[in-house]
Amino acid sequence: MGEVLNDVFCIFPQFNFAMGLFDIYYNANIVKGCTSSKLAELACKAQNVTYSIDPWAVADGGIGRYTISLAIEIPALFALLYLVEWESTTKRIRSTFKKCLKTIKCKKNKKQIDNKNDEETDDIEDDDVAAMTKSITMDEGLHKDDINALIVDGLKKDYIGENGIFHAVKSVSFTTKRGECFGLLGPNGAGKTTTFKMLTGEHDITAGNAFIDHIDISTDRLTALRRFGYCPQFDALLEQLTGKETLRMYSRLRGVPEEKIEGLIIQILKLVGIEIHAEKQVRGYSGGTKRKLSVGIALVGFPPLLLMDEPSCGLDPGARRKLWNVISGAQKVGAAVLLTSHSMEECAALCNKLAIMVNGKFKCIGGQQHLKSKFGEGAEVEIQAGSGDVNEISSNALQRIPGLTVKDKFQGAVKFVASRDTKLADIFEQLESLKMDFPIGGYTVNQATLEQIFLALTKYQKSSDH
Ligand SMILES: Nc1ncnc2c1ncn2[C@@H]1O[C@H](COP(=O)(O)OP(=O)(O)O)[C@@H](O)[C@H]1O
Ligand SMILES: [Mg+2]
Repeated sequence: MGEVLNDVFCIFPQFNFAMGLFDIYYNANIVKGCTSSKLAELACKAQNVTYSIDPWAVADGGIGRYTISLAIEIPALFALLYLVEWESTTKRIRSTFKKCLKTIKCKKNKKQIDNKNDEETDDIEDDDVAAMTKSITMDEGLHKDDINALIVDGLKKDYIGENGIFHAVKSVSFTTKRGECFGLLGPNGAGKTTTFKMLTGEHDITAGNAFIDHIDISTDRLTALRRFGYCPQFDALLEQLTGKETLRMYSRLRGVPEEKIEGLIIQILKLVGIEIHAEKQVRGYSGGTKRKLSVGIALVGFPPLLLMDEPSCGLDPGARRKLWNVISGAQKVGAAVLLTSHSMEECAALCNKLAIMVNGKFKCIGGQQHLKSKFGEGAEVEIQAGSGDVNEISSNALQRIPGLTVKDKFQGAVKFVASRDTKLADIFEQLESLKMDFPIGGYTVNQATLEQIFLALTKYQKSSDH
């Protein structure tokens, strides 16, 4: 039975290798004992002890049979492996070849596609955006000045799709200073996440460059990777790890000294408010808790730049406020933050500087107040009708206050937008006289909001399914 199995197992290379090693050792000891004297030789013969003087012999005691089996199996198994891999290799070669062909074809038609895209969008460049682009291209001192944690210089991204080249990001330039929060606003498909992905190295850059903490991301990607924390739009977490283990893993990846890791984990868990979930596996986390953990990962090592792609998406109002405190706390200790959000309230609360991106281009850039006075439509007036008739109050208000247009009319209230040159004093005076003549419940007058500007500038955004 043993001999049969010895022959059958020869089909396994591991068996041949192990038995070969064993037999070399075993045979050598027997040869040593049985050939030491004439008497020993006779005793071995009498007891039928088998051995081989030639260690390479195919017969019992030699390793010839194992060597021959291995000599056949190694090339045969390599050929088999190659055949298995062949299909996926050829698939890869074929798809690369197809991609190259497509790129060449698209490049031929590039001019045509470029023009088509340009016709479709409203392409008048804002003077602030042009000035920012110029200042980044021309200002050599920008890189010497330590105040900027992020310099983005003409970043472009083209995707090659079924219908040709799609310009997802069309040359954006901006800087973010240390301690500043730069808000990147824009409708879905504007190119915000693509910009983040180019900065983090997840996607190649088609043209342009960026400097993170003055490190050129195109030439020194590895060093640049250590200078920022990234909270992606969609949580990329390992479901089997606990929150604590996840943070420990990222701390080690970021090179935090071993003795500081535990303290850092506790600090981050507390900051993002997930201490009670620290020992649970991520697979059991709610969407909001996962988001908080993603923010925590970005904070590991407290890097000089935080890239936050919709960090508050899915958080309850309480958690959102807590996140704002975390972000403004990071700013206070000198971190620069690049943030995207669809919450105008959040941008108003956190961002020192804003840019609105539409179809891969910046439509405006600057401080909140600057954008409000440049693009704001004028004051927003809301009148609560009280016991009066909404329609009657609305038509009277329109008659009395010149430059007023109705924005929304609800049950019992009407919202107007005043023209930019209507004076606030005139609005209040007329509203007071209206209050005398009609039983209105009250009124509010608000300055132009960020939302107004967002809606006005983003109406030309194309569908994200290009
Ligand atoms: N990997 C990809 N391949 C092709 N097109 C893409 C890819 N990723 C994003 N896009 C397209 O690029 C545009 C910008 O997407 P994205 O940057 O995700 O927008 P958002 O501003 O909503 O974050 C969209 O039209 C999207 O369909
Ligand atoms: Mg996005």
